[in-house]
Amino acid sequence: MFPKINFTKTEAYKNLAQHFDSLSGLSSNSEKKDLRALFAADPARFEKFSIAFEDILLDYSKNRITEETKVLLVQLAKECGLADAIAAMFSGERINVTENRPVLHTALRNQSDQPVYVDGKDVMPDVKRVLAQMKAFTEKIISGQWKGCTGKEITDVVNIGIGGSDLGPVMVTEALKAYKTRLNVHFVSNVDGTHIAETLKAVDPETTLFLIASKTFTTQETMANAHTAKDWFLASGALQEDVAKHFAALSTNTEAVRAFGIDTQNMFEFWDWVGGRYSLWSAIGLSISLAIGFDNFEDLLKGAYDADVHFKETSFESNIPVILALLGVWYNNFFQAESHAILPYDQYLHRFAAYFQQGDMESNGKYVDRNGQQVDYQTGPIIWGEPGTNGQHAFYQLIHQGTKLIPCDFIAPANSLNPIGNHHQLLLSNFFAQTEALMNGKTEEEVVAEFKKAGKSDQEIEALKAYKVFEGNRPTNSILFKIMTPRTLGRLIAFYEHKIFVQGVIWNIYSFDQWGVELGKQLANQILPELSDANTVTSHDSSTNGLINAYKAWRD
Ligand code: F6P
Repeated sequence: MFPKINFTKTEAYKNLAQHFDSLSGLSSNSEKKDLRALFAADPARFEKFSIAFEDILLDYSKNRITEETKVLLVQLAKECGLADAIAAMFSGERINVTENRPVLHTALRNQSDQPVYVDGKDVMPDVKRVLAQMKAFTEKIISGQWKGCTGKEITDVVNIGIGGSDLGPVMVTEALKAYKTRLNVHFVSNVDGTHIAETLKAVDPETTLFLIASKTFTTQETMANAHTAKDWFLASGALQEDVAKHFAALSTNTEAVRAFGIDTQNMFEFWDWVGGRYSLWSAIGLSISLAIGFDNFEDLLKGAYDADVHFKETSFESNIPVILALLGVWYNNFFQAESHAILPYDQYLHRFAAYFQQGDMESNGKYVDRNGQQVDYQTGPIIWGEPGTNGQHAFYQLIHQGTKLIPCDFIAPANSLNPIGNHHQLLLSNFFAQTEALMNGKTEEEVVAEFKKAGKSDQEIEALKAYKVFEGNRPTNSILFKIMTPRTLGRLIAFYEHKIFVQGVIWNIYSFDQWGVELGKQLANQILPELSDANTVTSHDSSTNGLINAYKAWRD
């Protein structure tokens, strides 16, 4: 049974609130304990607050927690029925209640021989059938056995999709670029014609394969780009029957695929129990398979499965996604932190934060709880981030000395796939230094001592010292992994997916719908016909009317 518990009414929440006051020095007889003090008081903090799983190490000791915090947070998860929720998800219960669907992206990467039932039917044979179809197709394309309409091999693949039908494949193909096959894979998502126009400039219709990636096959942006691609292809002199050699569809909507003119033989199916932002493991991953080869794609699935087993079977105290989620709840709901930064010290992971911006914000950006009531507490945080060390020279100032508390995840590989000179040590020295600096900060005494050593006068020291003091006490998680492989990446992604799930359970919201994005889509559809003539528009508020009419006056 999927629970519907208001976490602010639990015993653990009340205890956490008191514990928060005492840790922050707010309650009587309590003294504020900052991270420096917590580390000074306990040399075993790292051992206590870190988890090793295969080739991934999570160090969460640099968080504003004590052993008591952890006990209470785990208690909170228990009182919120997390164990039941996990069981409900994996067993195919319809936990996406508002869309009346199960949530089974875990079935897509299930490596066990256990069946997974939806309405009494085992979905695993279908999952395996589509994986076999993807494998065969990938091999034909990569080997050159598959020929374009003029007999040439495919050299370029253009994935046309948006949101979950784009961000996952983009992130993974970038992260695993070191495993690249001979194919050049491009991604077109934006309905801004510039995106497809610039991509088409780089490819040749005779050697290009288009993947139209859309769960619904109705998304306005994707359909517009797909039609433009088809028109471009046919304008090159190709015939309608040549489309079958150059277009494939990744979708749940067979009828719409047929109506678009794609041979359903070239359709790679998935199912409505796969959420868009959880779909890279499905047929939506075909661009990944083509980019890195099917065996590597399969390793990615295996990695995610490793994480699924860990999530399902490990006690909450040592469970990586559960701990990450609970720490997020701690900052979101007790410290009122508004955002969470994901900072990979790995250029290959440069789209990781963008990917989880959708994963997290589309999942947990909700204000109505599972009882249909408006919540009176904070739900999903703002997720953002860029790779290090670039971010250090852009926005870290605010993380170090700003007025906002920003919990951060630092992620780095111990080994580089491009070991050049001392680059990797330079990178990692920054990775280690930043979390240490954020934790320790710099006290006034340290600042004064430094100034004195540098020969500054007392007057200069007095004028400058306040600006050089860092409060520190800024919380971070560090995730260190051995080296970027498909399997490791699969583990990492699945850990973050499950973290989002756990938080949704605790916040008592439905994490697998996204009604909030519908309103803008509906209004865009209403406005589109109003843009087709020169008439003055008066049907909206004065701002929207004013903007539309200014656009009409200016357009060529
Ligand atoms: O607009 C949001 C959304 O529905 C996402 O959830 C989804 O990933 C994206 O649009 C694309 O949808 P589709 O795969 O159906 O084209």
